[in-house]
Amino acid sequence: MGKIIAIANQKGGVGKTTTAINLSACLAEAGKNVLVIDMDPQGNTTSGFGIDKDQVENTVYELVLDECSIKESIVEVEGLPTLKIIPSSVDLAGAEIELLGKNEREYILKNFVDYISDDFDYIMIDCPPSLNMLTINALTTADSVLVPIQCEYYALEGISQLMHTIDLVQERLNDKLKINGVVFTMYDARTNLSSDVVETVKSNLDTKIYKTIIPRNVRLAEAPSHGLPINLYDSKSSGAESYRNLAKELMSE
Ligand SMILES: Nc1ncnc2c1ncn2[C@@H]1O[C@H](COP(=O)(O)OP(=O)(O)OP(=O)(O)O)[C@@H](O)[C@H]1O
Ligand SMILES: [Mg+2]
Repeated sequence: MGKIIAIANQKGGVGKTTTAINLSACLAEAGKNVLVIDMDPQGNTTSGFGIDKDQVENTVYELVLDECSIKESIVEVEGLPTLKIIPSSVDLAGAEIELLGKNEREYILKNFVDYISDDFDYIMIDCPPSLNMLTINALTTADSVLVPIQCEYYALEGISQLMHTIDLVQERLNDKLKINGVVFTMYDARTNLSSDVVETVKSNLDTKIYKTIIPRNVRLAEAPSHGLPINLYDSKSSGAESYRNLAKELMSE
């Protein structure tokens, strides 16, 4: 059975989507079968893989509202034969209210993913920047959570709330859920701030921290506008190298 990893941090702009896209692409490059689920109505993971959000027939929205099957919601990604994605759409922003009347609404995604989890080595779920019902569905589906932390002054803000939510989901909804680890993103070697943040987080958080630190790299910021993951956009960039190393760490777990 594949490993299901939710990439979560309710803080905005910390590198969740960049990690979801590029870590998944590097796992696929290493020959793994990967499914990416874009749970964010912003749909940046979907467009980052070059998929036109307005052209796709089925998305996570149709899936959770039972308007299509999980197989019908899965889309191929050009250039990465072993990577597939369930795209997102803006409609997903309204899904929370539509889900209110549903039974067991915390388990809607999980019940679908159970059908196909054997088909993949990794299922990566990109979460929106909030602790809403979409994120809860992701955490209920996942085996573990990967938490990107941006190397900036307020890095730890909101982390205790995130850990508390993960504990609650573990207690009440998904007893197999664990914290996979923390990955530092947007590290700037030219400043003391980045290294200070890494030290502060290490001494304050009692969780595994990945050895690989993702540097700030302009190629990582450019790649989504070309609809390409970093290994296809600039294979030799520091961004590509770092996400390859992170993929290796994950594969050795
Ligand atoms: N290592 C990096 N180097 C340079 N730019 C980066 C890096 N990681 C992310 N970025 C840029 O920072 C911005 C925020 O990153 P990203 O979209 O991955 O964060 P997010 O946590 O998914 O945001 P949101 O909370 O809105 O979903 C984007 O413009 C992205 O291109
Ligand atoms: Mg995002």
